Amino acid sequence: MIAAALNVSIPAQAENDLPPVGRSRFDQLIGHAPVPYPFSRLLHTIDRQMLTDAGGLPPLKVTLIPLGRSLQREAGAPDYFHFPRVIAAADGISKPGIPPLKDRLFLGFHEKGAVIEVISYNDAAGRFEFQVVRNYQQGKTPQVFYARRSLCLACHQNAAPIFARPLWDETPANPAIAARLKQMRLDFYGVKLSGTDIAYFIDTATDRANLFPVWQVLWQQGCGAGEAGDRCRLEAFAAALDYARHGTLPAPNILLTLDRSWKTHWPRGLAIPNPDLPNRDPLAALPDASHDPLLLRPPLETWKAPDKTAFVVGLAGMLDVHAAQQLKAADLTAPLERLRVRGAFSVLPFRHALLDDLLAELGKPRRTRLASLPSARMEPASAAVDAGPLVAPFRTHCASCHDTTLPHPPNFLHGRSVDANLDHCAERIFVRLSMAGIPEASRSKPPMPPAAALASRGIDPAHWAISPELDVLKRLAASRLRGQDPASLLRRPYAQLRPCLPSSSYAERAR
Ligand code: HEC
Ligand code: HEC
Repeated sequence: MIAAALNVSIPAQAENDLPPVGRSRFDQLIGHAPVPYPFSRLLHTIDRQMLTDAGGLPPLKVTLIPLGRSLQREAGAPDYFHFPRVIAAADGISKPGIPPLKDRLFLGFHEKGAVIEVISYNDAAGRFEFQVVRNYQQGKTPQVFYARRSLCLACHQNAAPIFARPLWDETPANPAIAARLKQMRLDFYGVKLSGTDIAYFIDTATDRANLFPVWQVLWQQGCGAGEAGDRCRLEAFAAALDYARHGTLPAPNILLTLDRSWKTHWPRGLAIPNPDLPNRDPLAALPDASHDPLLLRPPLETWKAPDKTAFVVGLAGMLDVHAAQQLKAADLTAPLERLRVRGAFSVLPFRHALLDDLLAELGKPRRTRLASLPSARMEPASAAVDAGPLVAPFRTHCASCHDTTLPHPPNFLHGRSVDANLDHCAERIFVRLSMAGIPEASRSKPPMPPAAALASRGIDPAHWAISPELDVLKRLAASRLRGQDPASLLRRPYAQLRPCLPSSSYAERAR
């Protein structure tokens, strides 16, 4: 069911790590300059682009996660409370003339890891891009890369940001976490250690961002191709402008094309992806396997009919408020129709630039700064290695996530000493492979490859569990156990198994 949901909301281009068209909002923000350093300067740069909200909170909402579930979870070891991960979400209206940032830009920074993870929207492609800034430390030049998308999507199954449900016990919303952070440092990059308010705002921003792919599916597939499709998109856009300008909700009888196409496209309903992780108290006595972000999350809900109000309001939320206000009370019927005739409403992602096109049509062209950008780079692929039969099956099934230049997840397939790495990781590899054959409720850890990775390749987990491929992988791992009884490994607590790669500092291993 989730496989269907992912296929519906994420078009086939999800396979490309690099944007198929356009660039990420983060790239546009940074332009040619190096990523501002230190992190407080980057935060300030982003904050300055938005208006302060009425409540006096900064438009960029920032919190700390010392003991988390992200890929940076081990970067602070052993000083987790001295080096917490920092999460930031853009949650303010951009200043006039600055393209929208709200719900479009999310960061995860780790000082000791010298990395920033970035999720930001690409309007032209209609998708969130996943990037990593490396070398983010004093005296070095930060490098921006598009990350291995399949790796990020193992947990970000919605191809968008994710966040815990209330009470956000991993953040300073948890008084015990706040107290331990305060004991450690007086200042964390200028971030205020606040209660639940900031966590709440980040959570709602990720919830709205989670629906961007849904609006894109309704806009593109829902309205469909041909003239009827173009008219459907024109109607949705006009309704979104009405809502943005006057707060008028759409009439129930609009977007009939959407009603008609619904039954063909989604006879069993449209599954809405789930951005919510279970709340987790990292100070709780026992770890709870059901909190793992790699577990496949069932859809948030399944829409049996198009929620046109949510759709129109969602589109309006993606627009530039100031640009919408410039339209004043103008009658838009004729200019919108001219745009349609010129193909502006063909099957392309919904872009806030449609509003610029409309303003130009009304004789109020806005200055659009077309910054040239440095070329997009992706996480380097390993030079074609001649893997022998003892390694090749691991390359096939594991390399997309375990042959990277970042240390977490352990990059045991990277570099020259792959054989030694596999030996070192054999215990944990064997156990993670074996999880596929254990009933979900009894698993101590999620299986490898992760459920989302199997789903994106259309592989049924039950088939995988009894597949010859898995059997080969398990035998190869078992052969590296130096005589240990494989079955006994499954009875040992996971944390007591030999750590996958020798522990060295996170930043050091990032090569
Ligand atoms: C093992 C699971 C996992 C993987 C894989 C993963 N993330 Fe995340 N990510 C998380 C969790 C959990 C959070 C929210 C809480 C936190 O940050 O600790 C998160 C949060 C984020 C955030 C902050 C915004 C948000 O979604 O709350 C960014 C940015 C981010 N991740 C980027 C990435 C990128 C880029 C990749 C791929 C290189 C990636 N993540 C892969 C688990 C993961
Ligand atoms: C789609 C991405 C992806 C693929 C494919 C994948 N993994 Fe992983 N793997 C991860 C992530 C993310 C983690 C870290 C999260 C965790 O430990 O739960 C991880 C963790 C692990 C660990 C645990 C390391 C530790 O320190 O405990 C092992 C072992 C592992 N993977 C083995 C494999 C093997 C073997 C394969 C291939 C059969 C594989 N993985 C395929 C994403 C992937």
